[in-house]
Amino acid sequence: MSTSRTSMHGEWSGRFAFILAATGSAVGLGNIWKFPYITGENGGGAFVLIYLICIACIGIPIMMAEVMLGRRGRQSPINAMRDLAEEADASKYWKYLGWSGVIAGLLILSYYSVIAGWALAYVFRTASGVFTDVTGDGARSLFGQFIADPEKLLAWHTLFMVITMTVVARGVKGGLEKAVRFLMPTLLVILIILLGYAMNLGEFSRGAEFLFNPDFSKISAAGVLTAMGHAFFTLSLGMGAIMVYGSYLPRKVSIAKTSIIIALMDTLVALVAGLIIFPIVFANGLEPGSGPGLIFQTLPIAFGHMPGGTFFGTLFFILLVFAAWTSSISLIEPAVAWLVENRGHTRIYASVVMGVVTWMLGLLTVLSFNLWSDFKPLSSISIFENSTMFDLLDYLTANIMLPIGGLLIAVFVGWIMKREITMAELDIHNPIHKGYRVWQILVKYVAPVAVVIVFLKATGIFDIATVFKAIFG
Ligand code: PHE
Repeated sequence: MSTSRTSMHGEWSGRFAFILAATGSAVGLGNIWKFPYITGENGGGAFVLIYLICIACIGIPIMMAEVMLGRRGRQSPINAMRDLAEEADASKYWKYLGWSGVIAGLLILSYYSVIAGWALAYVFRTASGVFTDVTGDGARSLFGQFIADPEKLLAWHTLFMVITMTVVARGVKGGLEKAVRFLMPTLLVILIILLGYAMNLGEFSRGAEFLFNPDFSKISAAGVLTAMGHAFFTLSLGMGAIMVYGSYLPRKVSIAKTSIIIALMDTLVALVAGLIIFPIVFANGLEPGSGPGLIFQTLPIAFGHMPGGTFFGTLFFILLVFAAWTSSISLIEPAVAWLVENRGHTRIYASVVMGVVTWMLGLLTVLSFNLWSDFKPLSSISIFENSTMFDLLDYLTANIMLPIGGLLIAVFVGWIMKREITMAELDIHNPIHKGYRVWQILVKYVAPVAVVIVFLKATGIFDIATVFKAIFG
């Protein structure tokens, strides 16, 4: 049918621009802030191994599926799913997959922006030299005082939302593409400099061992779900961000190759972040499992003691803000694209509306760290006993909404979309092409089954940890 659809929002200037933008979406707080702290909380190597398996067997095939849906549909995820379902004679309810993505994106951005605000604040704090010679207790108490102040958190969250929405309002070429072209390469350079520093610390090998030496006694079913959820989160899958970026992808670009490149870059950044952070953690006798504050409580100690620490520390937090910024843009793009398409609003108006909604939702996270830190609305359920509003938002989005979104994307592309269409989008002319067959097996069977099993296990119905332990000892 309409392979000639074009996007009303414009197109990337080419393959390189798409790779930059999608990598910009994928690489973010997930890699640098979240990956280290959840790895620390879940005991290191075994968690990392499960996460890597999820990236390879679930993440990459679903990323290809999601880019494909976007490029075929050429619209915001809601409208793309509506039209693609019609094209495949499937239920019109598929458009709710687009809706759940839009909602997940706003929910994620609401807390993401608050954490990005911390990073923004830490750029200035580090630059001011407050961390020079700081002790462990000092860094912890500075962080503690900071998050205890709702007004400060609100101010930085507000500033970050304004920066994000400014780029979003300018549109695909004017805003997104220009921003990522400059941001992504800068980020890589800064990471390499920091890795050089970490490699010269006495504890580099201990950090590497923590990351790469799996000990399956340290991982629980909940940990497996967290690892899988994080594979979706870190690749920006399951909520339409990659779909909407795919909708701006020119026809001739290879979906398989670009998806693999993006996933590799994202994984590389996460592992490098781990290799930077854990040696610093161990060299300073810090605690790997200290939660969302990990990088904010530990890195300043390192920066406070290393030569040129003020400079490198400032650089590090600038990097974190850049990475968060390019991800935030993609979190809200599905909602903005939809408002423009269906309500005929300008991009500027749509950006302001969605930005304000997200900003308000962000108050829940701002308050979770101070005034409402004792408000644990689901504490009667044992796994949520200690969960604040922030923890619940994180769990709901990363561990539930994204995997379910990804599962449905895999089912739609694997079982509902016509084979000729998936073959055409992947530029495959022979149905027994090896790569195509492998991809089909992964999207039709492996990814959906894996998501379901991990869910069942995390809710206690099926014991996958025993299986892992049996295989890997
Ligand atoms: N992938 C981003 C990160 O790792 C977060 C994100 C999730 C962005 C979902 C878009 C969609 O920080």
